[in-house]
Amino acid sequence: MSKLWGGRFTKKTDQLVEEYTASITFDKELAEEDVQGSLAHVTMLGKQGILPADDVDTIKDGLHRVLQRIKRGDWEYAIADEDIHMNIEKALIDDVGPVGGKLHTGRSRNDQVATDMHLYLRKRVVEFVDLLQKLQSALLEQAKANIDTIVPGYTHLQRAQPILFAHHLMAYVSMFGRDAERLQDSYKRINTLPLGAGALAGTTFPIDRHFVAKQLGFDRVYENSLDAVSDRDFILEFLSHASIIMMHLSRLSEELILWSSTEFRFVELDDAFCTGSSIMPQKKNPDVPELVRGKTGRVYGNLIGLLTVLKSLPLAYNKDMQEDKEGMFDTVRTLQGALQLFAPMITTMKVNKDVMRQAVNQDFSNATDIADFLVNKGLPFRQAHEVIGKTVLYCIQQDKYLLDLTLEEFKQFSPLFDDRIYEVLQPANVVNARNVYGGTATPQVTDAIARAERELDAT
Ligand code: ARG
Repeated sequence: MSKLWGGRFTKKTDQLVEEYTASITFDKELAEEDVQGSLAHVTMLGKQGILPADDVDTIKDGLHRVLQRIKRGDWEYAIADEDIHMNIEKALIDDVGPVGGKLHTGRSRNDQVATDMHLYLRKRVVEFVDLLQKLQSALLEQAKANIDTIVPGYTHLQRAQPILFAHHLMAYVSMFGRDAERLQDSYKRINTLPLGAGALAGTTFPIDRHFVAKQLGFDRVYENSLDAVSDRDFILEFLSHASIIMMHLSRLSEELILWSSTEFRFVELDDAFCTGSSIMPQKKNPDVPELVRGKTGRVYGNLIGLLTVLKSLPLAYNKDMQEDKEGMFDTVRTLQGALQLFAPMITTMKVNKDVMRQAVNQDFSNATDIADFLVNKGLPFRQAHEVIGKTVLYCIQQDKYLLDLTLEEFKQFSPLFDDRIYEVLQPANVVNARNVYGGTATPQVTDAIARAERELDAT
């Protein structure tokens, strides 16, 4: 079969070259976007009098039929037709005859493929914002159910200060909120139309780029035709935002894995989200968070891959740029899978409130608070820190916790202690003492939950 660009050639393309250069095996995913762009383009060609109305109608009808066939699976692509753009054009010409060859007037595959990618990512960004918000809602529900659950808070993975488990979960609500915001911020750059740039320099036909933009719902058009066909920044932005989301998910994954170990026993993931061992009958493995943690690597890889493809690439289009697709599709699929699983996994997670509470009673995470107690009695903080350090060391040597000490024992370290310290040291009081905006005290976390819910409802 002859090539759409075959005129200048006297020899057949080498079979291996055909296979090596073709992108149809993966860019067939852009079929719908490709037809959508072509419909807007050909409508504009008609409006501008570049094509007669009859031809426009014939081409449009043909494009609709081709798309229906692709959707039904009643379509076979040809490697020889290289990519989705030429496969569709070929199918159109087969359907409507030579008039189908008028579709590509005033257009190049270079501005066409860029348009398809913009249309594709525009849809994905909206879907990802929705998935992130569903995950935020799941975390918010767990936070509400754990507004009175006290758990050790950690720094260096060493117990630091007690916090509400709700407060810990709300940290992730903030993180995923920023992720959604980042995607929304990038929307205005994604929603910019490259079509009309031609191969690189514009076109000799009197096209109307703004009319095409309007039909396709783009807010603006690229200012410069070379930039329009060379730009893949919008994909890089998406890949880096996806990397940050996966990084957040991997941190939560790591915590879920730790928390569901026998050593912690803070949570239990639902059976539906775990798998067993083929040899050890007792095992219940947190495969989902483990795999999300692991798949974070490939999402980072896709970002670094495309950054490297684009590095030092001269303007304008180069075939290297065809390498923008597989990594992007892979990232979309990986991120979809992770976000879709995470929301129900959080919703069905069992929180062992008693184990958490018990953990708080068996640590020194209230030590800062007796230091603050001495500061309130007038002792400089640095000296109070020293006194409490010694008190903790004494406890460790005596195999006791701070609440086990008698007032006499406390007084050995400072005469400023009085029996009010037993109140101060209660975990609930330690938590509620941190009553600053954004802190872990119950009223603050309750407000934070209400604010986050209002924000989610507003979107
Ligand atoms: N399949 C190509 C890609 O994905 C489409 C653009 C081809 N343009 C060209 N001048 N060969 O990048």
